[in-house]
Amino acid sequence: MKKQVRNRKLKQSSKNWIRRQINDPYVIKAKNEGYRSRAAFKLIEIQNKFNIIKRDSIVVDLGASPGSWSQVAIEICGNVMAIDLLDMRPISGVSFIKVDFLEEGSFQKMAEMLRNRRADVILSDMAPNTCGITKIDHIKIVNLVEKVYEFCEVFLNVGGNLVTKVFHGGTESTLLNELKKQFTKVKHFKPRSSRKESSEIYLVATMYRPAGRNV
Ligand SMILES: C[S@@+](CC[C@H](N)C(=O)[O-])C[C@H]1O[C@@H](n2cnc3c(N)ncnc32)[C@H](O)[C@@H]1O
Repeated sequence: MKKQVRNRKLKQSSKNWIRRQINDPYVIKAKNEGYRSRAAFKLIEIQNKFNIIKRDSIVVDLGASPGSWSQVAIEICGNVMAIDLLDMRPISGVSFIKVDFLEEGSFQKMAEMLRNRRADVILSDMAPNTCGITKIDHIKIVNLVEKVYEFCEVFLNVGGNLVTKVFHGGTESTLLNELKKQFTKVKHFKPRSSRKESSEIYLVATMYRPAGRNV
């Protein structure tokens, strides 16, 4: 039986949110298994299907807070670097910097964190703040995904993998075509743990093979 929220002082929208949280099987499972959020299961599903992270991978987690993707990644490999605009409670084995990915100079900060190595896996669960105006929100999402792609051009090893959140209609065909040229396989994937009503979907691009680069 579903649990109900009885606090009369709360607005209906807050009651709905709390009711959804306390009845959500993935929220309960995350709590039981020690993950910081239900998002952990999205990466677990992606990993089970595409095997993107290997034991010796260097992983960069963009938009990592509260940290469940980093928790999942560090269980598989020994090298995880995470960034977010928000603080993140430390996770053993994961290095973290607080930085806005979109600000000028963010790549320099991340190069320092990577100590001039490249990553084998780039994860991005970032979503821009939306304003509700479809055209503007669409542009923001496209800009963000394009910047993630620029990040790959600088920081992803040949043979590396990318997972990035996009939204239905959020991957411009030009960008998608570009990705298809640079990666051996590019797939859209909606994990079962991603809420049906959410328009989020993940783009999983494997085996990076940029023209003119051997390493
Ligand atoms: C859905 S949450 C990520 C959840 C995370 N994958 C987890 O498993 O715990 C998205 C995160 O992206 C971050 N974010 C959004 N835009 C960002 C930006 N421009 N730079 C850095 N982080 C950003 C937000 O602060 C938020 O913490």
